[in-house]
Amino acid sequence: PKITFIGHDGAEHVVEAEAGISVMKAAVNNMVPGIDADCGGACACATCHVYVDAAWTTRAGAADDMEQAMLEFVSEPEENSRLSCQIIMSEALDDLVVRLPIRQG
Ligand code: FES
Repeated sequence: PKITFIGHDGAEHVVEAEAGISVMKAAVNNMVPGIDADCGGACACATCHVYVDAAWTTRAGAADDMEQAMLEFVSEPEENSRLSCQIIMSEALDDLVVRLPIRQG
């Protein structure tokens, strides 16, 4: 499945992700700038923050309690904020669009 990352500068990076890996991992594997992912996907750093495009928020699902707690630490949380290490790619998320915050942490 494909993911489009849109940087805060408007630059788009389209990557092909394997089903079963996280959106964070797909970004890191493809050197998409703007995802720091300091903890490597353990839901413990909040530096993989993204904003899920409005068309995708339902399908991407809601943050669980642990993720919700970590989202308290992002600099500009919004309704559609998620930690990208907690969104697992599947065919149902083909063409997912996420936006990157101005800075992580
Ligand atoms: Fe650390 Fe997602 S990579 S919380």
